[in-house]
Amino acid sequence: MSDVQFKKQPKGFATKAIHVGQDPDQWSATPVIPPIVMSTTFKQFDPEDHKGFVYGRSGNPTRNMLEKCLASLDNGKYCLTFASGLGATTTIVSMLNAGDHLIVTDDLYGGTSRFLRLVASRMNIQAEFVDATDTDAIVSAIKPNTKMVWLETPTNPSMKVVDIEAISKIVHKTPGIIVVVDNTFLSPYFQRPLELGADLVMYSVTKYLNGHSDIIMGSAVTNDDDIHQRLRFLQNSMGIVPSPFDCFQVNRSLKTLALRMEQHHKSSLQVAQHLEKSPYVAKVLHPALPSHPQHKLALRQCYGHSGIMSFYIKGGLEEAKTFFKNLKVFTLAESLGGYESLAELPSIMTHASVPAEQRAKLGINDSLIRLSVGLENIEDLIEDLDQALVAAVATKK
Ligand SMILES: Cc1ncc(COP(=O)(O)O)c(C=O)c1O
Repeated sequence: MSDVQFKKQPKGFATKAIHVGQDPDQWSATPVIPPIVMSTTFKQFDPEDHKGFVYGRSGNPTRNMLEKCLASLDNGKYCLTFASGLGATTTIVSMLNAGDHLIVTDDLYGGTSRFLRLVASRMNIQAEFVDATDTDAIVSAIKPNTKMVWLETPTNPSMKVVDIEAISKIVHKTPGIIVVVDNTFLSPYFQRPLELGADLVMYSVTKYLNGHSDIIMGSAVTNDDDIHQRLRFLQNSMGIVPSPFDCFQVNRSLKTLALRMEQHHKSSLQVAQHLEKSPYVAKVLHPALPSHPQHKLALRQCYGHSGIMSFYIKGGLEEAKTFFKNLKVFTLAESLGGYESLAELPSIMTHASVPAEQRAKLGINDSLIRLSVGLENIEDLIEDLDQALVAAVATKK
């Protein structure tokens, strides 16, 4: 495997993931592994005096502990968690008022696009979809009522890389615009948008942060006191909070985040390099490949890449369907970021809700296959892809 030089990871990430927020002395029984506090209500000493917890929606000790740990991974001051990634998105967009305008990456998670087009628009919050790989296009889209710029990088599923630092710098010349980055695909291990000038970073925790495909959750991290206060108010007022049990599980998952991400990086790169040589593959999209259009930017901006990647199979829908049918280790399923390898067809599955003309513009056709490369033995993954490609393309009459 050729070595690819991303930014050097400073020391300390895994130690923070294991220890921040976890101090045994915060609990009267001093447990080394933090407990799950399921209680929805908390005893008070006096109507005006309590230990910091009153009611489970406004605050919960297990949730607080997880939020402290998550904030530290982005070198952020504050983190808030939500019942899903889209719950985080809904809450963040609710910071805007009717009549406000936001600029959004044109190639983003289908659910975010659907929420902005079909729900936020009904509250008269207008989203404008722009190719964010062109920084000038973002600047040209700024209007007097623009209050937010929403980036997702690498984009989903086209793997376009957007320059967070350049966009944050130029957007912040206009006061009052919040730059948000959906960092779900890379996790804070491989990309830390706050370091690059973004105001707010959000996650579908469901993906790499949890990493075991058994929890739906979202989060938002910031260093900005005002953004934090507004979001905390909305978290409680809108009520989109996660359960303490789920917070416990995610806190547990974070302990192996660094290890998991290192392996996702290695395995997806090996798969990408292998597929690029396959006679049954037309094109591979992976930011660590020199053939990727924003390869240099990815190396400059990120500490590595996760297990998410896409490729165009030679052929169309029939070949893609035969490929999925023949997979034995990869599972045909939506989502990503778990220890298990998944494959899906964005045009019909995750991105079916994106308007057809937008899909055509972004190259999301029936040959584009998205992989979430998991943590199985790499030899087994490559063998599985090879035999499914042979069955789908080579044996075609
Ligand atoms: C990049 C990205 N952002 C946001 C979401 C929404 O998160 P959730 O499914 O946790 O609501 C997803 C889900 O697939 C995603 O992939």
